[in-house]
Amino acid sequence: MFRLFSGFFGSDIGIDLGTVNVVVYVKGKGIVINEPSVIAIRKSIRGGRKEILAVGHEAKAMVGKTPSGIETVKPLREGVISDFDMTEAMISHFVRAADDRRGFFSRPRVVVSVPACVTEVERRAVVDATLSAGAREAYVVEEPLAAALGASLPIHEPRGNMVVDIGGGTCEVAVLSMGGIVVSKSIRGAGDEIDSAILTMLRLNHKLAIGEGTAEQIKWELGSVLPLEEELRMEVKGRALTDGLPRSVTLSSVQVREAIEPIIQRIGDTIKETLETTPPELVKDIYEQGLVLAGGGALLRGLSQRLSQELNVPVFVAEEPLIAVSHGLAKILDDLDSKRPIMSTVERGSL
Ligand SMILES: Nc1ncnc2c1ncn2[C@@H]1O[C@H](COP(=O)(O)OP(=O)(O)OP(=O)(O)O)[C@@H](O)[C@H]1O
Ligand SMILES: [Mg+2]
Repeated sequence: MFRLFSGFFGSDIGIDLGTVNVVVYVKGKGIVINEPSVIAIRKSIRGGRKEILAVGHEAKAMVGKTPSGIETVKPLREGVISDFDMTEAMISHFVRAADDRRGFFSRPRVVVSVPACVTEVERRAVVDATLSAGAREAYVVEEPLAAALGASLPIHEPRGNMVVDIGGGTCEVAVLSMGGIVVSKSIRGAGDEIDSAILTMLRLNHKLAIGEGTAEQIKWELGSVLPLEEELRMEVKGRALTDGLPRSVTLSSVQVREAIEPIIQRIGDTIKETLETTPPELVKDIYEQGLVLAGGGALLRGLSQRLSQELNVPVFVAEEPLIAVSHGLAKILDDLDSKRPIMSTVERGSL
C-alpha cells in the first residue's frame, strides 16, 4: 500500500553533499547533477535578505573574482555544514533542479551522505536543512558506508572491508562488516588542504600569490605521490609578492610532491592507526582482499601504489571514485522500502 502511495510523490533522491562537489542521483534517472558546492550571493546593503545569484559551476567560476557586495560561499567546511542557511539554499536549489515534477506531490524522499565523524547535532542539521529544502522524508547515511556500497564491496558479509574516502574536506577511513561500520577514523582536511599546501609553497618559495582555483588546477596537472617516469612541468601565473605585478614561474611535479608530502603521510598514518584498532580477524581479510580508495583524492598519481607499499596490503581505486558515494546512495534508495534497510545508523526526519 505504502509503495503504491509513494508512487504519487516525487522520485527518491540521493545527495552526496560534499565539501567540494554535490552529486545528485534520482531514482530511475541516474546522476542528474554533479556540481561544485559553491553559492554566489548578493548582500543587501541594509544587511537583510541575501539574494542568490548562482549555484554550482556558475558560482565556482566567480570565486576570487567578485566585486564588493557579491560573495561566493562554500557552505560546507571539512565535510560538515558551516553555513546552515546557505546549505539549505543549495540543497533546495539542487532538489528543485533534480525533481521536475513540481507541486505538492513532488516532495521527494531524500537520502544524504555525511562524514562518519559528524556529531549528532551536525547530523540533525543536515536532516533539518533537507526537510526545509522541501523533502518529505530525510535520511542521513555515513559517507564511507555509501562509498563501500558504491565500490561493490560485500559489506553485508561477516568479513573485513576497508574503504578510504579522500574528499575535499575530509579523509575517512572505515572498516565495515555485516552491514555496519566496525571502526572508523577521520581527519578533517584532505583535497582542500593539499591545495593550500601548494598555495603556501608558491608564496614561500617563489614569492607568487595564486588563487585557490589555480592551486587545485596545479594539483590535477602535476600532483603525484611517487617519482614519475617523466616528471611534469607547467607554467603558473599569479601576482609577485615582491612588486605586486603579474609574473609566471615554471613549476615541476617534484616541487608539488614535496609540498603535499606531509598531508599524504598523514593519510597513510590514519590508515595505519585504523588497522591497529581493527579486530585481527577483520585485518586478516583486509590483508588478503585489500582496501578500496574512493573520493577525488584517489585520483592523485601513484597513491594506490604508494599506500600498497607502505601498508603491505593490496590497494584498489574504485571504478569512478568521484561518484562512488552516489552509486552507493542509489543502492540505498533501491532498498529504502525493504524490511531490513541497508542503513545501519540512520537519523530520520519527516514532515
Ligand atoms: N585528478 C585529480 N587528482 C587529484 N585530486 C583530484 C582530482 N580530481 C579531483 N580531485 C580532488 O578531489 C576533491 C573532491 O573530491 P570529492 O568530490 O570526493 O570531495 P567531496 O565529496 O566534495 O568532499 P568531502 O567528502 O570531503 O566532503 C577535490 O579536492 C579535488 O581537487
Ligand atoms: Mg565526499
